[in-house]
Amino acid sequence: THPLNIAIDGTFSSGKGTLSRRIAAHYGLACLDTGKLYRAVARDVLAAGVSLAEGEQAAVIAAQIDPSTLDDPYLKSGEIGAAASKVSVHPPVRAALLAFQRDFAAKGAVLDGRDIGTVICPDADAKLFVTADPEVRAERRYQELLGYGEDVTLAGVLSDLTERDHRDMNRRVAPLKPAVDAHLLDTTDLSIERAVSTAIRMIDAVL
Ligand code: C5P
Repeated sequence: THPLNIAIDGTFSSGKGTLSRRIAAHYGLACLDTGKLYRAVARDVLAAGVSLAEGEQAAVIAAQIDPSTLDDPYLKSGEIGAAASKVSVHPPVRAALLAFQRDFAAKGAVLDGRDIGTVICPDADAKLFVTADPEVRAERRYQELLGYGEDVTLAGVLSDLTERDHRDMNRRVAPLKPAVDAHLLDTTDLSIERAVSTAIRMIDAVL
């Protein structure tokens, strides 16, 4: 028996983060939100005064990410999310984060992100691709940002989300797309409980 790997990819605010944590708890696995790695790179690049467009310099910073700084609440902000989406387009940045993600997976884990099933863990035991209608995702994200005390509008969140989807799906390296063997889960009309039970049923069916 080898360590279990579950890959959860999907769009921004599709509910994949919550789902991943619940799935990890169900199977007794560790969980890595790989978006936090790109967010931490964006934070450190901005702090260093380096442009988000400088892929090689950003990769040097990415190679030095301190895993103990991944729970920084500032990483959840809209500002850092948008910056993460810009810095994540650079192949050297993605390459610099690969080993950390593979090492994490090697012990048995749920990883969630954009390219887990396609690039990071192509041999995962189960792969889900989670999405939901943009309006529903914008409403969820809007409520989340209000909860952090951010001054945002629903229209602003929807336009940011549309832009981010476009960038994630159209970048040259590791674009957001379902792996050929991923199972699609649309959470538009599902409560969290229903989404979790549906996901577990889908995963159990392939394990
Ligand atoms: O999932 P989250 O919103 O935290 O991710 C922030 C950004 O990091 C995404 O918009 C995406 O551009 C990038 N990302 C990525 N690959 C991953 C996880 C996140 O490119 N595996």
